[in-house]
Amino acid sequence: MCGIVACTGAPEVGRVLLDALSRLEYRGYDSAGIAVTGAADGRSAVLRTTFRVDDLQRRLDHWQPGLPATTGVAHTRWATHGEVSVDNAHPHTDCSGRLAVVHNGVLDNVLELRAELGRAGHVLTSQTDTELIAHLIEGRLGGFPLRRAVEETIGCLRGSWALAVLDGATGELVVTCHGSPLVVAESERGVFAASDLAAIAPWVERYRIVEDGDVLDLAPGLPWWRHGMAVRPPASIASTLRGTDLTRGVHPDFMAKEIEQQPEVVAEVMTTWGPSVAGDLWPSFGLQVPRHLTIVGCGTSLHAGRAVAQVTARLGGIPYSAIEASEVATTTTVPGSLAVVLSQSGETADVLRAVDVLHQRGHPILALTNNPHSALARQAQAVMLCQAGPEIGVAATKTFTAQVIGGTAMGLSLLAAARLVDRSAVRRRVAELSGVPDLLAYAIGAARRSVPDLVPALLDSPGFVFLGRGSSRVFADEGALKLKELTYRWAESHAAGELKHGPLALIETGTPVVVLDDGSERLAANIAEVRARGARVISVGPEQATIPARTSTTALARGLDWLGPLETVVGLQVLARELAVALGRDVDKPRNLAKSVTVE
Ligand code: F6R
Repeated sequence: MCGIVACTGAPEVGRVLLDALSRLEYRGYDSAGIAVTGAADGRSAVLRTTFRVDDLQRRLDHWQPGLPATTGVAHTRWATHGEVSVDNAHPHTDCSGRLAVVHNGVLDNVLELRAELGRAGHVLTSQTDTELIAHLIEGRLGGFPLRRAVEETIGCLRGSWALAVLDGATGELVVTCHGSPLVVAESERGVFAASDLAAIAPWVERYRIVEDGDVLDLAPGLPWWRHGMAVRPPASIASTLRGTDLTRGVHPDFMAKEIEQQPEVVAEVMTTWGPSVAGDLWPSFGLQVPRHLTIVGCGTSLHAGRAVAQVTARLGGIPYSAIEASEVATTTTVPGSLAVVLSQSGETADVLRAVDVLHQRGHPILALTNNPHSALARQAQAVMLCQAGPEIGVAATKTFTAQVIGGTAMGLSLLAAARLVDRSAVRRRVAELSGVPDLLAYAIGAARRSVPDLVPALLDSPGFVFLGRGSSRVFADEGALKLKELTYRWAESHAAGELKHGPLALIETGTPVVVLDDGSERLAANIAEVRARGARVISVGPEQATIPARTSTTALARGLDWLGPLETVVGLQVLARELAVALGRDVDKPRNLAKSVTVE
């Protein structure tokens, strides 16, 4: 995974790079590093830490790299090859220390390359695949421009990479990518390359996407090569992030802010898509009406996809299968099915690999993503944006609700186009969806009031069981995922009826069992079964529940039963966050995880 950023032409390049890097930390935070030109002996001056970017910032203040530098590269790491250590932190250098390389991606042919370099006498000091790239480039420099050496080197690589290569002797800076995202931009502040536009958003009005195999000098005018030929840079794209608030404001962490934003996000989704749902939304995709949906995604996005598919099945009888993206290649799909692929980042490697497979099998692809410029958006036949705005916390919250509501709007438009639900009924459903922001706002307020009192009794619980049935089930799954990724406690989610077929053995005195209460008699019987074995039952749902998520009196609450209890997720997000905070976890950056999972 990892995030890279490179800049030339900025007076205080160290500060600029680390400011940008702080907005890439969501891609990994095992270690961080920076290299700038300006060392008097022609070497790249390199600073690395196994702590985070703010630690690097402190060290930078005491650092004397030599001459004032205007060119540099920086990196934040999610460890793949090699443990978390300073030696394995990027940037990596060659034997002479002249080059500094930062890399996002993973090489597949590491053993072969390591052997080649060993035979050529290169001494390697890390376990990473990236250091191999620095040495391979060094071996190909021989009086040529850096760009030529990089071009020759990438011809030997297998796997994925976004690379920035700095030559401390000449000040040349070359970037390229293959299977990992990279954008570049010219601005008054300097010329930039970054894994994600968010990193450089404060300084950039327009940017360009680097295609796989492109190699360019990061310099004014962006000299650009494709297949070894100089070409004009591709058209620039207006940044939608300029002026976007990327700070956490008054909130203690980004997750708290993003939970809080959910009502306004859903309102935005409905303002954008609502008016066209019963009319031209589906025709605008240019897709045929499908008889079957194949839902594809990972983690939270897959949960959102299942929630959406359940609505189209419930209201219009469209059958579906839901497949983890990493399993698509080994799973049979229904011929002719429309693949609805969900990914908030649009850059998840498992998802992009699944898209390749789905294309090979002839499935049309409709992407539901929060990133209009992502690889997924570019590869899909049609794109539905989920309008959530930047999500910085690693745990997905507002993008989940935005995907569920945006996906539901898409599903309703399909049902209208397929005449499975008449247009006036679709308009009624859309009107009901416009009430969801109020429902979520109520659930957030109620969770804030009720959850803090629950937390002290849960601090020593090693594990949690989540139960749901019917349309609640997928939201129970999402609640369990949030709890485990934030608190590092195990959490299992089950269909309530499955309990007695095995998981009931886990229940002992005090085991927390989180139940999404749909008020049914069957569920009440399951609750009685766990209570009888001493479980601590935490119910989420109606007014009298442990974590109230909806009132029993409003028409709205009754009217949205067709959607499933989306509002319960808010209570589960708050529960996971509050418990994690009480346990001293970093809720925005849970251990071992990253927001954009760009390795398979
Ligand atoms: C959990 C979470 C992950 C992501 C998953 C897919 O809070 O965020 O489970 O949902 O890694 O990421 P995207 O949606 O970017 O493809």
